[in-house]
Amino acid sequence: MSEFTHRPVLLDECIEALNIRSGGIYLDGTLGRAGHSREIVKRLTTGRLICVDRDQAALDAARERLAPWLDRVELVHSNFDRVDEILDSLSMPAADGMLFDLGVSSPQLDDGSRGFSYMADAPLDMRMDQGEGLTAAGVVNGWSQEELRRVISQYGEERFAPQIAGAIVRRRGDKPIETTLELVEVIKSAMPAKALREKQHPAKRTFQAIRIAVNDELASVERMLQRAVPRLNRGGRLAVITFHSLEDRIVKTGLAGFAKGCTCPPDFPVCVCGKTPDIRLVNKKPILPSQREIEENPRARSAKLRAAEKL
Ligand SMILES: C[S@@+](CC[C@H](N)C(=O)[O-])C[C@H]1O[C@@H](n2cnc3c(N)ncnc32)[C@H](O)[C@@H]1O
Repeated sequence: MSEFTHRPVLLDECIEALNIRSGGIYLDGTLGRAGHSREIVKRLTTGRLICVDRDQAALDAARERLAPWLDRVELVHSNFDRVDEILDSLSMPAADGMLFDLGVSSPQLDDGSRGFSYMADAPLDMRMDQGEGLTAAGVVNGWSQEELRRVISQYGEERFAPQIAGAIVRRRGDKPIETTLELVEVIKSAMPAKALREKQHPAKRTFQAIRIAVNDELASVERMLQRAVPRLNRGGRLAVITFHSLEDRIVKTGLAGFAKGCTCPPDFPVCVCGKTPDIRLVNKKPILPSQREIEENPRARSAKLRAAEKL
């Protein structure tokens, strides 16, 4: 799909959730191919858009895609879990809206050499930020069998995690596992024939798990929420798109914590904590893509958008 026909996930819903003011300050924490950013920046006049990605390749490509609006844009190579430091470095105390469209981008998956895909042979890398030290090869060849089992089970929700972790450790005892297709072959060798015939690719869940571990994705989302909410202006909006239940649970629980008022035990006669809600949830239930969007873009199938407004 060309970049001009590519439609970002839940685009209209995100734009509505962000409630954009033309003079406001916005932050897109997951620039990717700038699909959402283009639509945000078009709506700004005196406002500014801070575009963050931990992948330098995304920032380089976005410079072209955002060319007509570069006077309103700041491109920042960083992890979105440093959202507070990013705003500090730009002398911006707070933002009026922040968007996080989690996970990997299509260009990262499509570039076989990055090692995210179980369909293309490449060195086992999977780093979103290629300046970071830990690669997928480091996880696969260096982590203990128990750590591998836990990661594949928890982050991949893979029922054959013990068998796959065992097969990885046996294989690397002969020689290190170096490429994506070698890993696919080891994963398949650990699964029963029936599981190999399922619709989903047998390596999908294990690859997701290792990618999450390499990029420390879940902890980044938790840190981001804790640092983003305090840096929203009153009335400012936070919008987060998740793609699997692990991420969604973190976002749902994190937002619920900020939306909660008093935390005193229920048997206290009066409140002593004095806590008041920091945000209100814009929608009680997550916003899901329409059937039409899913047909046009199967990647949207598991997307969930949660939005909150700062009080
Ligand atoms: C799903 S894509 C975003 C697509 C984008 N919204 C669009 O429409 O083109 C996710 C992007 O976020 C980046 N990313 C993921 N986790 C990140 C993090 N913790 N900090 C900064 N960028 C991150 C990835 O490198 C990837 O480019």
